[in-house]
Amino acid sequence: MDLQLKNRRCLVTGASAGIGLGIVEALAQEGALVVATGRRGDKLGEIADSLALKGCARPAVVTGDITDAGAVKRIAAEAAEAFGPIEILVNCAGGSRPVTPEAGDDAWEESFYLNFMAARRMTAAVLPPMRKAKWGRIINITGLMEPRALTPEHGALSAGVAMKAATHLWAKGLSRDLGRDGITVNNVPPGRIDSEQVERLYSDEFRREESRNIPMGRFGQPRDIGVLVAFIASPLAQYITGTVIPVDGGLSFYGA
Ligand SMILES: NC(=O)c1ccc[n+]([C@@H]2O[C@H](COP(=O)([O-])OP(=O)(O)OC[C@H]3O[C@@H](n4cnc5c(N)ncnc54)[C@H](OP(=O)(O)O)[C@@H]3O)[C@@H](O)[C@H]2O)c1
Repeated sequence: MDLQLKNRRCLVTGASAGIGLGIVEALAQEGALVVATGRRGDKLGEIADSLALKGCARPAVVTGDITDAGAVKRIAAEAAEAFGPIEILVNCAGGSRPVTPEAGDDAWEESFYLNFMAARRMTAAVLPPMRKAKWGRIINITGLMEPRALTPEHGALSAGVAMKAATHLWAKGLSRDLGRDGITVNNVPPGRIDSEQVERLYSDEFRREESRNIPMGRFGQPRDIGVLVAFIASPLAQYITGTVIPVDGGLSFYGA
């Protein structure tokens, strides 16, 4: 199936590692023109070089801290300068934030700006040309809506999961307002996917334990998210909007 992504202009946040990297690879291999953003320019440069060596269009690299409102505007502007106005935005930057019931505002605010506001601000920044063109794709990488303990040391309460839940409802409202402009808005909550974050947070023992809870019997790979994102980004997926589509090896009971 030709996903018709050749020369489509994409911006992927959180592109320097893990799931975001899997998404960049999937889109670039479909012929898309990708702008990859994150804080680590060296990593992004290596990724761009390696994709160019594989015959893909070399992704453009834009760096910045996405929790900062000014940086989001600059990233969006530089991304549009790279190949032209963004047609496909993938909001992937984020991270799990286990907290205790007593956690203070600082922990919650950090997660709010990283896991919710960054996506909302970036979307607002790239929307005007999409609306004018009457075509666009907004895809948020969110999280399952069934809170689970991240490690044996942590409880199930997470400032990350709560912000991902907020993203689902923000995206739903947005999808209703943008449908007539030919813009789709969708969410992809990963289950347990191998990434830098997972490597950092999970012990081998917890990983083995947790794999027993996954019907597929193992953690997923960033590529498993990338292939769905590429499909939702495609012009073929024109009638899919306002959805939450998990990629979790069957981990969740109720979808998301
Ligand atoms: N892996 C999972 O099992 C899982 C499960 C549920 C949800 N998710 C969600 O999936 C997304 C990707 O997760 P991951 O596991 O792949 O994470 P990861 O391996 O830690 O990668 C996170 C990415 O986000 C970027 N990032 C983090 N903070 C940033 C900031 N302040 N400004 C700009 N970029 C920032 C990082 O780039 P730099 O460090 O270069 O800035 C990196 O590219 C996240 O939204 C996460 O919540 C993942």
